[in-house]
Amino acid sequence: MCGITGYIGYRNAYPIIINGLKRLEYRGYDSAGIMLFDGEDIQLSKTKGKVSNLEEKVKDEISKKGFIGVGHTRWATHGIPNDVNSHPHLSQSGNLVIVHNGIIENYSTLKQELISRGYTFKSDTDTEVLINLIEEIKNQYDVKLGKAVQLALNQVVGAYAISVFDKTKPDEIVVARLGSPIAIGIGKDFKEFFIASDASPFIEYTKDAIYLEDEELAIIKKGRKVNVRKIKDDSLVDADVHELQLNLEQIEKGGYEHFMLKEIYEQPRAITDTFRGRLLAKEGIIKISGLENNMKKFLNAERIIIVACGTSWHAGLVAEYTFEEFARIPVEVEYASEFRYRNPIITEKDIVIAISQSGETADTLAAIKLARSKGAFVFGVCNVVGSSIARENDSGTYTHAGPEIGVASTKAFTTQITILTLMALRLARAKGTMTSANYRLHLQEMELIPRKVEQLLKINEKVKDIARIYKDATNCLYLGRGFNFPVALEGALKLKEISYIHAEGYPAAEMKHGPIALIDEKMPIVVIATSKGHYDKVVSNIQEIKSRNGKIIAVVTEGDKIVKEIADHVIEIPETEEAFTPLLTTIPLQLLSYHIAVMRNCNVDQPRNLAKSVTVE
Ligand code: AGP
Repeated sequence: MCGITGYIGYRNAYPIIINGLKRLEYRGYDSAGIMLFDGEDIQLSKTKGKVSNLEEKVKDEISKKGFIGVGHTRWATHGIPNDVNSHPHLSQSGNLVIVHNGIIENYSTLKQELISRGYTFKSDTDTEVLINLIEEIKNQYDVKLGKAVQLALNQVVGAYAISVFDKTKPDEIVVARLGSPIAIGIGKDFKEFFIASDASPFIEYTKDAIYLEDEELAIIKKGRKVNVRKIKDDSLVDADVHELQLNLEQIEKGGYEHFMLKEIYEQPRAITDTFRGRLLAKEGIIKISGLENNMKKFLNAERIIIVACGTSWHAGLVAEYTFEEFARIPVEVEYASEFRYRNPIITEKDIVIAISQSGETADTLAAIKLARSKGAFVFGVCNVVGSSIARENDSGTYTHAGPEIGVASTKAFTTQITILTLMALRLARAKGTMTSANYRLHLQEMELIPRKVEQLLKINEKVKDIARIYKDATNCLYLGRGFNFPVALEGALKLKEISYIHAEGYPAAEMKHGPIALIDEKMPIVVIATSKGHYDKVVSNIQEIKSRNGKIIAVVTEGDKIVKEIADHVIEIPETEEAFTPLLTTIPLQLLSYHIAVMRNCNVDQPRNLAKSVTVE
């Protein structure tokens, strides 16, 4: 998830683009760049770091003149954050310029083809491949920029929002969208146009905007109506012009009240983005390059040790169940902070998987260094490309959750479980611990998860009603079994960290060994009782709670009949493979903690005493 901006009109473009990028920094902030056309030539400056770094760099590098330009603030996916990989990218001739938000899945195939035609590449990005493909088509078929973009995009697999400029035709900008948002602000009498990932960069200039739909491109030219066309067949689209209602803060939060709620609702897209280029269910293929490149090490590993902190540790716990269930590889899950000082026994035959959203958590970083010093192979699962942990590993893979602004981790958790589950399935196939028929079934079911999460998010109002009943609770217990024991721990952590209510997660069977003493008519107990997860055992646990008047909020599989009769509140999740249920059961728990915290007037996005990334011991 990156932020792109652009301007074409009669005003000086520089301040509009730079201020627009600052407003979009919540979308990505690891590098930034700008291109201005000063009437004669392209002025381009880009740098690693925040937009403020770019402002410094621009001072010495380019004139800030020009009435047309594009800008970009990056959230790296392909190519670590550095000056070369920052956007904008130029085509080989230097005539075409592009800024891009999204992921081109088939970029390496396209790149090989272009290399065979004499193209060379300066960066590691998928974006530079796209702009050279556009240039190749423009030259080969001698077509206009709009047509070249349309033809090129018909060869692309993936997600994109792009803005393209051609210095040989400096009175237009071409934009296109598939999967990533792009808005076009329309100035009075078409004298100027604003381009951005959302309306926040131009809200003070115009209230009229076109939101491009998927598979649409637009040719934006000063003095005339925006020309919107279908990418597939170049057919004309009569695009709606919307009058903007939202204020700035609302736009940045996408109309949601808090970043946490926005990020909860982003999970279908985040999981889909984490699938991109890795899960090809129809072909029955999982392809995670870091894993493929080190498959022999994984297959010869005596055990896998997972190190992490907080929510990432909970994702690691779910992975313990999936790796052992699917791939029959022994797994140990360690709190990084304990692992680093416990003088653990580690050998070269061990694989250490380090999980971190931020990639900057000090304890996890130290645990990695320790493991490497003892000869273990370290594989990282991170969300921030180029982060310290990502750089410290021997290899790794990225979750594509996009920037997570809310301190309470939500979409990072589900994308961590997603990528770790894909790894477990892939290893099962490589080890032959899963038949190809069963493998295909699991991949097809996995592919349905984003849609099931989307469907499940419709329970929001129901969960809000339950939250209203328990917002004044002083304690809360979360119970789960098997794959959903870690989800119970995660649910308790979410409630603790944003509502400040004391909460504990437990394996359901452990309740009888102590926590059952806490139960009375004031104690809400969240119990995860999915149909295929030791259901009968969990039903008995629920009856034990009921007989002590505990208040039960049960998360069950749709169509459940038994728990419905016992529990005080029932939240249904769609049917799926038991191993995949943590991707669904965690959603109502995220929403419950969110609504309770809002009703207690807590600062949901920046809870007291907490930081998004714990870079100290
Ligand atoms: C989770 O909501 C918290 N923000 C915290 O527990 C977090 O998961 C932990 O600090 C680990 O962070 P990391 O994933 O960035 O390493």
